[in-house]
Order: sequence, then structure tokens, then C-alpha cells
Amino acid sequence: MSGVAPARRERFFATCAPGLEPLLHAEAGELGLSKLERQVGGVYFEGTLDDALRANLWLRTAIRVLMRVARFEAKDGDALYAGARAIEWERFVRADGTLIVDAHTSDSELDHSLFLEQRVKDAIVDQLRDKFGTRPTVAKEGADLGVYVHLFRDRCTLLVDTSGESLHKRGWRKFQGRAPLAETFAAALVLASGWDKRAPLVDPFCGSGTVLVEAALIARNMAPGLFRDRFGCERWPSSELRKATQLREQARAAAKPSKARLWGRDLDRAMLAGAKENLEAAGLGDAIELEHGHALEFAPRKGWGAWIVSNPPWGERIGEERDVARLYAQFGALLRERCAGFHASLLVRKGAIAEELRLPNPRRTRVLNGGLECELVTADL
Ligand SMILES: C[S@@+](CC[C@H](N)C(=O)[O-])C[C@H]1O[C@@H](n2cnc3c(N)ncnc32)[C@H](O)[C@@H]1O
Repeated sequence: MSGVAPARRERFFATCAPGLEPLLHAEAGELGLSKLERQVGGVYFEGTLDDALRANLWLRTAIRVLMRVARFEAKDGDALYAGARAIEWERFVRADGTLIVDAHTSDSELDHSLFLEQRVKDAIVDQLRDKFGTRPTVAKEGADLGVYVHLFRDRCTLLVDTSGESLHKRGWRKFQGRAPLAETFAAALVLASGWDKRAPLVDPFCGSGTVLVEAALIARNMAPGLFRDRFGCERWPSSELRKATQLREQARAAAKPSKARLWGRDLDRAMLAGAKENLEAAGLGDAIELEHGHALEFAPRKGWGAWIVSNPPWGERIGEERDVARLYAQFGALLRERCAGFHASLLVRKGAIAEELRLPNPRRTRVLNGGLECELVTADL
């Protein structure tokens, strides 16, 4: 029998910020990815490398999509080296390419992540040098291949990165601002809000516009990965992808117009100018209205049934806590008293200040945002 061999099926792990697993799981299900398994920090799925590319193009809350390449017991450095060396590395990186190895270990004999990184790196470069006479070099930034080592109770899982740069780097951002929310978190806020994609959506503390852009992409069914030219697995030497062009074309064709109205406000004019730059870079310049002003001066229209989706200031700096606590109390009162029938989805730092909002029957999800304990609070007003 002749013909093309069927594409290899692999196990992938889409990673996300801790706390966002249920949202990522729901997204993966909607995308039709199979054999989903929720874990702390992400969701496993099974499929071909093309499925992984689809995941990279579409998953809004995922940070990376990793492919599992081996699992074995590694109680000592030699076992780790042998297990890593048994993998066919030329599939993933050229002998003259660059790589980076990142390791985590817990509850194991081998308890130094740096040692794990070195042994795995040695296994890869030794194998490729023996075969091709040249070896990949280590690059801390922009490496061709990222390799992840997880050791738990002496069981080693090796994964390779199919994403390349972190997926929060969508490619539309021109302006950073002081504390931009990660695009993955902004999308999570919108998805968690249960927005119907038709009613108005307002971010009264919009900063660089991240929530607004991600909401507009969701409303238009635009794949967030379409702004990127390529993902990590598109650099692998073993061209195992068969449908990359087709998947991008399908993603472009899936976009649809939206009449949803999106509003942003901010007290800082420089932020608004930056937000405008970002909206334009994302091709959403005409979809979103930006207003300069205090969040408390936001005038909700009766019967709007709007969604308020935002990441209010956190009062990071010393001396700001009292002001921020008062702002939260006043903003909470505005929502309770003047926004009946609206919905709120807010990302706040966990703690006393967040309590000042006093939202009715809030649903709280604990999340880690850049290592900070936060809460994603949703409520029907
Ligand atoms: C945590 S940042 C929001 C970041 C934003 N989500 C982004 O991705 O860039 C909070 C924003 O609230 C704005 N801000 C602070 N106090 C405000 C107020 N009283 N009314 C409106 N905006 C305010 C700040 O200028 C800042 O841009």
C-alpha cells in the first residue's frame, strides 16, 4: 500500500495561569480538542501537530502548548541523561540551532532544577553532535526550541514547546502602559463574565485597552493567534505540520462582523493614546470608543444590560491603599446603585481592598497573576 503515513498523534499540555484551568478546559472543548484532562496549571489533550497549531491559533487563555515527548523514571542524573538522549531531537531542533531547557522538580531525589537543565541539555547536544558533528547552543532569549523538564516523585516528563513566544504576546500590542494586563488574563476576564457578545461592554479603567481588544476579538470570532507570523513548531526541521496554511485560512474565514459596542475610560490621557494605538494595530480602531474621565463619572444608561469588565488599579505603591480602598467602595456603590441588570467581571488583588466593592452574591475564582494572588470576581448586578 502506498500513500502518506497518518500524522502522528501526540499528547499535548496547554498551560495557563493557575486558576484559569476551567476556562481553558472549556475553550479546548469548544475547539473540539480530544481526550481533555484538567491538571493544575493547564489542560492535556491528544491530537496531531496540526491540532496543536490550531490550539496555538485559537486558545485565548493558554500561555503555551507543550508536546509531551517522553516519560520515564529518573532517580539519578544518569537515568535522566539516558531518558533524554533516547528522544529523536533532530525532529525539533537543527544541530546548528539554539535551545533553552527549563526544569521543575518536586518530591524527587534530584532536587536541583539547574542540574536537571544541564543534564538534559547535555543529552540533547551530545546526541546531535555525535550524529551531525555540530551542536545546538543555548540561547536565553528567542531560542529555536524550548524544552521543559518536570520531575515529580522521580518520574520525569519531557515536553517541547510548540508555541515559541508566550501566547500572551499576540502581536497586536504597540503600547505597554504601566501595568498592562496579560492578554490571556484579559480574555479570561471576558470569558468568565459570560458576556453575550451583543450587549455593550465597558472597561472604566481601560489602561492600554487589553480587555477591550480581547473582547472585540471574542465578539468577532477572531483567532488571537492570527496576529503572529508563526509558532515554535513551525520552526522544527521535521515539517510534521500538514495543514498550517489551511488552518490559518480557516481561522481568517471564521471571523465575522459584530455590532457589539465597546467602551473604555481612563483618567490618564497617555494611557488612552496608547490604547488607541493598540486598537488600531489590532484593526479595531472603529469598534471601540475611548473616553477620558474618572471611572466614577461613568454614566450607565438605564436598561443597557451592559457588562462591566475591568482590572481596576491595585494600589501597588505605598500610601495608595487608602485611596484605592475608597475608590473601590465608591465604584462598588456605583455598580450596586446605578447598574441594575448589568454584569460585572473584575480582576482584583485578593485582600481587604477587594472586599470594599461589596458586590451582590459575588462568585470568586482565585488566580495567580504574575505570582500575585488575585481574584476574578463576577456578579450579576
Ligand atoms: C491596573 S490598570 C489597568 C490596566 C489595563 N487593564 C491594561 O491592560 O492596560 C488601572 C488603570 O486605571 C486607571 N485609573 C486609575 N484611577 C482611575 C480612576 N479613578 N478613573 C479611571 N481610571 C483610573 C489608571 O490610569 C490605569 O490605567
